[in-house]
Amino acid sequence: MNEQLFDTTKSILQHIDVPHLSKRGVQLFVKRDDLIHTEVSGNKWRKLKYNLLQVEQGNYTGLFTFGGAYSNHLLATASAANKAGFPVIGFVRGEELTEDSNATLKRCSELGMKLIFLSREEYGMRNDKQYIVEIKAEYTNYFFVPEGGGNYLGMVGCQEIWKEIDCNIDHVFVAQGTTATSCGLLLGKPEHTTLHVIPVLKGFDAYAEMYAKLKWFLFQDELASELLEGVRIHSEYHFGGYGKYTDELLSFIQKTYNSYQLPLDPIYTAKAFYGMLQELADVSFNNKTILFVHTGGIQVCKEIEEKNNLKLFTN
Ligand SMILES: Cc1ncc(COP(=O)(O)O)c(C=O)c1O
Repeated sequence: MNEQLFDTTKSILQHIDVPHLSKRGVQLFVKRDDLIHTEVSGNKWRKLKYNLLQVEQGNYTGLFTFGGAYSNHLLATASAANKAGFPVIGFVRGEELTEDSNATLKRCSELGMKLIFLSREEYGMRNDKQYIVEIKAEYTNYFFVPEGGGNYLGMVGCQEIWKEIDCNIDHVFVAQGTTATSCGLLLGKPEHTTLHVIPVLKGFDAYAEMYAKLKWFLFQDELASELLEGVRIHSEYHFGGYGKYTDELLSFIQKTYNSYQLPLDPIYTAKAFYGMLQELADVSFNNKTILFVHTGGIQVCKEIEEKNNLKLFTN
């Protein structure tokens, strides 16, 4: 497998000139990982890269993973595995679904992913060690990639974003779900850079989740706590919780695209970008350089546009 299966040089660093920020000397850059690929976009290639290399180097027959009916991760895994030539199984939440239930599942199936539909109860066991052992016994020599690609290898891939940043960054902002992307950014960031995370889940204990992942990654409780001192959590920008959005958020997406040619999605990146702009109003950010990591997710916008009968990306 070619390590450069997807070309990350497409992920440019876009300078965004927000007049009221520029006036205060705040420099804002967006790392456009959404441009890496239409299906394996944003943090998806970052999280899948070392998982796929593991499939190859460990001589696995293929891989299996988990996702909901509209999962970005499921689609990205199907697309990347297709390009790498690996057989892939997707376990999907919802026994009532079929390959034709929606565009995401249809495309996964077209790309060759074998879809297995699970009851919500069975899907709830997706992180249970014994349950995974049972799947591995049935699908011998298949490599397990957890939901959202949120494992150790996913974090290592996300650390690599820093290799592509060639200017000094004081603050970095990112949307948070499983925490793999934010933990990767934290592990790779320069010491003086502050990481700001914006969880999209309501009531999410970001600190505890990140601590648990880092502790396991680093084998050291103290180092995990020390690293987390460099993190600020902004929990008030979830817009009602995962998958929820408001008219205000949709209109924010339209305005952002119109002003900066920057497409955002209502599930992750718009919430984070909105939250970041609110936070940047504070004078402590004067004369600082800010990085927003665009983690992708734009493919869901088509369905949201149809559902709400509007266009998100017009000038
Ligand atoms: C578009 C997008 N942004 C951000 C995230 C959050 O990343 P993580 O789950 O690694 O915290 C996800 C989920 O993977 C996502 O699909």
